[in-house]
Amino acid sequence: MATRRSSRRATAGGKRRDDSPREPLRPLTGQAKGQQLQELLEDLVSSSEPGDKLPSERELAARYGVARMTARGAIDRLVSQGLVHRIHGQGTYVSEPRVAQPASLTSFTEDMVTRDMTPSSIVLAQEVVPATGPIALQLQLAAGEPVLRLERIRRGDDDPIALERSHLPARRFPGLESVDLAARSLYETLATDYDCEPATSEQQIAAVALTDAEAHLLHVPTATPALRIERTTRARDGGVIEFVRSVYRGDRFELRTHQHRKAGTSRAEPDDAP
Ligand code: GLP
Repeated sequence: MATRRSSRRATAGGKRRDDSPREPLRPLTGQAKGQQLQELLEDLVSSSEPGDKLPSERELAARYGVARMTARGAIDRLVSQGLVHRIHGQGTYVSEPRVAQPASLTSFTEDMVTRDMTPSSIVLAQEVVPATGPIALQLQLAAGEPVLRLERIRRGDDDPIALERSHLPARRFPGLESVDLAARSLYETLATDYDCEPATSEQQIAAVALTDAEAHLLHVPTATPALRIERTTRARDGGVIEFVRSVYRGDRFELRTHQHRKAGTSRAEPDDAP
């Protein structure tokens, strides 16, 4: 799948322009014209801005000498990759890029800033409650001990991107229930106000479809594909400081990982036989 150039900057509010990106007439030849056209369109999207209009199926068919069905199939694949979206009766437009979360332990605020987006949150719940059994287990507390329950809609350039439900041990962070976490980063608050820096985390990631309630809060249709991420975070002293269940819109978010292969792993074992 095409990765958009990092120079592309997200435009707030999904501004729409009506000037279609222009390409010279370039008939495609040989096999797999649909695949070739898809690659050309991925390239076009990578150099476009969110809200730019794609040429119509008819224009693509004429420009590249392919059947309209072929043009439609190539656009369909771009739609399913989340690179573009159709607006009924108007055309196909370049979508907002996904926000990438790197493999390192970053906060939502940092992920947005890296993408040149303005982070903000809507706080749905921020209260101290007794830990239920499962939450106590995750936070390594006894059931009934006080925990801060924090539920936030996380936004980038005012667009809702994720829904996060966090629990933190309330005794370790007294007063956190009164901090304005609509405007401030949780991780920055923990470091500045409590001298506690998140140091390591474990994450479990799964593909899910958003429930009615989640989709409503994230302003997308029910059953939109999403990533469910559960994170358990520890401080430098090894204590568990948060357990978070989040859902991130699949069309606006991706995870990047970096793999390291142990040297010598691919080498065949020498035969034992003399
Ligand atoms: C990410 C993580 C959460 C963490 C949050 C802190 O979204 N998935 O586990 O609580 O960042 O974000 P911030 O410091 O911006 O409030």
